[in-house]
Amino acid sequence: MTVDPLHTQLCDEYGCEVPIVAFAHTKDVIAAVTNAGGIGVFGAGSRTPTELRSDISWIKERVGNKPFGVDLLMPASLAEGNREDLEAQIPQEQRDFVARLMAENNIPKPKEVQPPDGQMLKHARESLEVIFDEKVPIFASGLGSPAFITDEAHAHGTKVWGLVGLPRQARRQIEAGVDVVIAQGYDSGGHSGTVGTFTLVPEVVAMAEGTGTLVLAAGGISNGRQLAAAITMGAAGVWTGTIWLATHESATEMFIKQRLIEARAEDVYQSRAMSGKPIRQLRSKWSDAWKAPGAPEPLQMPLQPMLVDGILRCISESRMEDWMTTPVESRSRTIRVPSSIRWRMSSCAGWGGLMPPSDSRARVTARRFSSVRSVWVLSVRCTLMSAQTPMRVRATSIVSENRTARTRRSE
Ligand SMILES: Cc1cc2nc3c(=O)[nH]c(=O)nc-3n(C[C@H](O)[C@H](O)[C@H](O)COP(=O)(O)O)c2cc1C
Repeated sequence: MTVDPLHTQLCDEYGCEVPIVAFAHTKDVIAAVTNAGGIGVFGAGSRTPTELRSDISWIKERVGNKPFGVDLLMPASLAEGNREDLEAQIPQEQRDFVARLMAENNIPKPKEVQPPDGQMLKHARESLEVIFDEKVPIFASGLGSPAFITDEAHAHGTKVWGLVGLPRQARRQIEAGVDVVIAQGYDSGGHSGTVGTFTLVPEVVAMAEGTGTLVLAAGGISNGRQLAAAITMGAAGVWTGTIWLATHESATEMFIKQRLIEARAEDVYQSRAMSGKPIRQLRSKWSDAWKAPGAPEPLQMPLQPMLVDGILRCISESRMEDWMTTPVESRSRTIRVPSSIRWRMSSCAGWGGLMPPSDSRARVTARRFSSVRSVWVLSVRCTLMSAQTPMRVRATSIVSENRTARTRRSE
């Protein structure tokens, strides 16, 4: 009897074919991943409740009854207060620093006052109502424990997932009956903590044993070998973000995709200069400036975004590319491996925007980005080979997808 290593409890409980969850801000990625047999989770933190309702309908039309989710940010540590109170808490030192940066670098002034970020929690609660109303199968909380909403969500038939970066956060969520805890290690793109994926995942798996809560591994997972490792550590699957940025379906800007696939390990770091919490991201002039000698400390959330959001928007609208960035995982896997099989595996994945071969720095064109489907299948294939298990899972489709990939590469 052959055992399919990719059929985990996540597949049993959610009806996905393979235990790969993709977080993305692009609806097309969500639909493509879900339709490819995984689970897409839509990052809706910046959408209004009305926009979110229409996004959900769009996704439902494309995925039917397949599982998908919506992710919101509900930070527990938001400073309280109305706009005026919060404004008063922004120190003059940080205001002066930002004014100087703008003057010295010709960054245009924001035209209008933006809505207060202090309203983030209220906004998230309204979006939650939309999620329940639309009977979205999964609600994921990106920051802050979703424990307070678990019973209500279950009453609406929505499963509750929570991202954690520390064992104590995981314990709290497991005790509160959260359905899936995502153990997100230090490597991860976006808001990332201090504990490494390989340390955090087994610890959270041990905590969850016998409780009914499943654990997903996250942080620096971008190929099949890492998926195999996550399953070996006891995770029911993986939660991934960065790998989907450089796909055709992703709305990520082309120059960012380019920088992403060219990035070396030292081009990625954590910075609090955007949201006030540490975000692992591609290096940019904006975050470099906040790390320079003499720069003030970034403020806490939501004061930092209140101070800088409008300016970052101007930077983006003015196409100041060197000042722009995206959250990404650690880029520690630049490849210089002579072995042909490994090389081939790596360059397959690299072609998908996952791991750039170090000698292939040609200017990227849209054609070099693979589709979500190709990245997917290559990941699955790597897993099967690295796990040395019988190639039972969709062997035919894997072969045909690889053929398509090779044809595209040779174009
Ligand atoms: C571009 C980008 C934006 C992200 N935005 C969010 C977000 O809004 N909410 C959230 O819960 N996680 C967000 N994350 C983190 C992902 O949910 C995920 O935990 C992380 O990407 C996993 O690590 P990986 O990038 O190494 O795969 C983001 C990640 C990336 C790469």
